[in-house]
Amino acid sequence: MSKTTWTPIEDVLTGDYAGKPVHLRGWIYRTRSSGNIVFMTLRDVTGVLQATVKRGNLPDAEFEDALKALIESSVQVTGVVKEDTRAPGGYELQVSSLTMVQFAEPFPITKDQSPEFLLDQRHLWIRSRKLTSILKVRSTVVGAIHSFFRGQGFYEFDAPVLQPNQCEGGSTLFEVKYYDEKTYLSQSWQLYAEAGIFALEKIYNMGPTFRAEKSKTSRHLSEFWMAEMEAAWMDLSDVVSIAKDEVKYILAQVLKHNKKDLEVLGQDVTKLETIRMSEFPTITYTEALQILKDKEGMEIDWGKDLRTVEEDKLMNHFLTPVVVTHYPREIMAFYKPSDKKDPKTALCFDMLAPEGYGEIVGGSQRSTDIAAMTQRLTQMGERVENYDWYFDLRRYGSVPHAGYGLGVERLVAWICKAENIKDAIPFPRTLLRFRP
Ligand code: 4AD
Ligand code: MG
Repeated sequence: MSKTTWTPIEDVLTGDYAGKPVHLRGWIYRTRSSGNIVFMTLRDVTGVLQATVKRGNLPDAEFEDALKALIESSVQVTGVVKEDTRAPGGYELQVSSLTMVQFAEPFPITKDQSPEFLLDQRHLWIRSRKLTSILKVRSTVVGAIHSFFRGQGFYEFDAPVLQPNQCEGGSTLFEVKYYDEKTYLSQSWQLYAEAGIFALEKIYNMGPTFRAEKSKTSRHLSEFWMAEMEAAWMDLSDVVSIAKDEVKYILAQVLKHNKKDLEVLGQDVTKLETIRMSEFPTITYTEALQILKDKEGMEIDWGKDLRTVEEDKLMNHFLTPVVVTHYPREIMAFYKPSDKKDPKTALCFDMLAPEGYGEIVGGSQRSTDIAAMTQRLTQMGERVENYDWYFDLRRYGSVPHAGYGLGVERLVAWICKAENIKDAIPFPRTLLRFRP
């Protein structure tokens, strides 16, 4: 017996199979019957196709199965492809044989259900067209991050997920029992990367990152994926320019591979093309405050961090991502050095996405001054001796270096026009949810 060739739905929709028989397999996406006809929409990973099942065109028992089958039942069908301008996609299948793989029970997800219900049913909801499209974009983004860095001679370098120290502030640490001691889930790969650069010079990583964020927002997850890079001999301007190139490269890959998905998601492909080809402006924190004052009438005291509202108001004035550098030193993480030219500012940057998607990248040059870092850690109430291994990196062949982290879900949410960051990851973990 020869092996069956299964045709992907997207190939049927090209028209190449018009008038020809094909075998398809997938799931019933929609179904309705009228007398002796069942109109089924079938879906597979590549798309959806209307299938017409007429009594008399296939064995009676198979027609009865078609009548009975509920949505999300898994099926294999054979039929002839016919051009039909009324069908979505312009083609339909006239079914001559139907094999039920499994009769689905009544599917719990119907129209107009609440976001919370859909999150409870996440294991079923990820097969929706919207989430399938986002997951395809996410896959492209992840692949692009690897190829971007590898293409530039970066090595992939792994850090432990269980870490004894904070990197981004103690308040968002997730504590884990570690035999008789306690440790924390990684907030960042960075501190270990700063050790790795002495061996490999240019390194990157993408991995799960954990923050016990105590607020509910549409931008924060408790578990998210961060793509980070760290490089010896680089300064702030070097890493800012790599971050811009990286985001543009990712956009180019998504535009190359996921146009159809972006259309399903209602994203404007031409707009993303334009953004990809545009210069991303770089401004300082001080200039950002000036824009907020002049154009939004917002007076922010110099020294305050930009909150979500301010970031959003600022981004009202830009169509592309914007890099903001030189935030106030005092409110920054302990490893961010002050700028010698203006010591109250730090050699750091954030990249903000347009349209209210917030900070997608955060990074900096790294301090090489043990005394300054010790002072900052002490102010923060940290036990400085825990950082002694990290200070060794400044004792044995210290070099200027810099790096940044990109929030994969923030970027995916922006590219996909998602309303909430939760839709940018298959199974979101937030303040209120770690199930299913
Ligand atoms: O700005 P952050 O906190 O930077 C760091 O962790 C640095 N140690 C990275 C480095 O220099 N290697 O986080 C980096 C990015 C943010 O810009 C944001 O996009 C994302 O990670 N991010 C989050 N994404 C989703 N949920 C959260 N709770 C996030 N916190 C940060
Ligand atoms: Mg940040």
